[in-house]
Amino acid sequence: MIHQEKMLVVSQKQIAKDIFELTLQGNLVKEMEEPGQFVHIRTNPGLDPLLRRPISIASIEKDKNQFTVIYRSEGKGTRLLSQNIEGNEVDVLGPLGNGFPVDEINSGETALLIGGGIGVPPLYELAKQLNKQGTKTIHILGFETAEKSFYENKFSELGETFIATVDGSLGTSGFVTNVLDENEIHFDVLYSCGPTPMLKALEERFHGRKAYLSLEQRMGCGIGACFACVCHVADDSTGSKYVKICSDGPVFPIGKVVLT
Ligand code: FES
Repeated sequence: MIHQEKMLVVSQKQIAKDIFELTLQGNLVKEMEEPGQFVHIRTNPGLDPLLRRPISIASIEKDKNQFTVIYRSEGKGTRLLSQNIEGNEVDVLGPLGNGFPVDEINSGETALLIGGGIGVPPLYELAKQLNKQGTKTIHILGFETAEKSFYENKFSELGETFIATVDGSLGTSGFVTNVLDENEIHFDVLYSCGPTPMLKALEERFHGRKAYLSLEQRMGCGIGACFACVCHVADDSTGSKYVKICSDGPVFPIGKVVLT
């Protein structure tokens, strides 16, 4: 069930260049189930800016009633959000969307998790849940540059972790696909989240495999009411079928929607 709640800021830390980690506490956490779901956070209690910002859930701590998001401070809204300190209250709507299906892989099998930039955070809760059910996880994380990279150690604690940076300042030089070219990685199910060009490259490479992609998309309402996030369905000869990323996704099986 979706709730709106004023949640308590437990901590806020800058963990890389322009990247913040925010932990919030409140009853809304009880409703969080699937990794890959997101929340819609109001960044300013006043009217400016009016819109909430969709931010994916990076980690859930049910026993503490807390969850963590990792976001990039890039516009006015997220800059304001990054100024919140411990003890402040933040208006949160969520949990929203359909996340990654963890029951599509068995214990003893191997999941490959590929994330790019701000698409990396939701894979952390996914990796935690998969490991908990006995599924092995391998991670490939792509960043622009070393100073914008984060959570390498946290992922390494859960499974083998490869890093790629566009400028070669950390790990493999280039993109996540370069890691795939340079290493023979065997897996049963692929889960990925990141920018559309990365998802497209993965779709070309892994079409026909069991895979789930989380789409990053501009959003308005976040609850299926405004049509700001529509995407066309791939196998549709009429061209009129669409899905809403916010309420039908953001996670879809590979090949289901046209990536634009
Ligand atoms: Fe409004 Fe998806 S953001 S319908």
